[in-house]
Amino acid sequence: MTSTSVGRAGLDKKPADVAAMFDGVARRYDITNTVLSFGQDRGWRKATRRALALGPDDVVLDLAAGTAVSTEELAQSGAHCIAADFSLGMLKAGHRRPVPKVAADALTLPFADESFDAATISFGLRNVANVDTALAELQRVLKPNGRLVICEFSTPVFGPFRTLYMEYLMKALPPVATRVASNPEAYVYLAESIRAWPDQAGLAERITAAGFGNVRWRNLTGGIAALHYATK
Ligand SMILES: C[S@@+](CC[C@H](N)C(=O)[O-])C[C@H]1O[C@@H](n2cnc3c(N)ncnc32)[C@H](O)[C@@H]1O
Repeated sequence: MTSTSVGRAGLDKKPADVAAMFDGVARRYDITNTVLSFGQDRGWRKATRRALALGPDDVVLDLAAGTAVSTEELAQSGAHCIAADFSLGMLKAGHRRPVPKVAADALTLPFADESFDAATISFGLRNVANVDTALAELQRVLKPNGRLVICEFSTPVFGPFRTLYMEYLMKALPPVATRVASNPEAYVYLAESIRAWPDQAGLAERITAAGFGNVRWRNLTGGIAALHYATK
């Protein structure tokens, strides 16, 4: 699929289109997220923080941090948490959040090898143009035994719930987004990219193939999202 010029990326996820699309949703990103997820996003962020088991001595990379809403949650642990994203619009929208912010592309991270005790990417990996390269970069910047937690949309495990959810994604979500979001087209991309994304086991295979060990996952909200854990 090719990208369009109306403010959304295509499933080819050209980096410039993805960054521009997030620039376009940045202003109302946080509130739109909360509305479209029926408030589940807060619980998912908390679950991500707990899964990382952070301590005050940890240096943590929050990749694809967007408005740093996820980084702010992680920082509650007392760890030194850095928000990195390639959408300057998203980083600017989070300028009031008191965490360090770095402009960075997940495919070529501006950090030295073995810089972080832990790394996380929430609702970001699905958007990168090359998932395997992003995983390899996360592996590179983690210290030996460093923890990785990926929070991403996934596949509901209970059949009837899965059917209902897919209907919500394709039929109800875009009209709701039209009322709330600053760029509703981006939410058509959201629905399509979720449907095209691997399920829990499929993502676990990709993480293992990138060289991580101890790969496992836990479902959130019946599998609408999942947390994948791994260690370097
Ligand atoms: C859905 S937002 C997630 C923001 C935040 N982590 C959260 O949980 O709300 C996805 C973010 O991924 C970022 N992103 C996508 N591809 C990226 C890349 N290659 N490098 C850095 N950031 C990227 C986008 O700019 C966007 O801010």
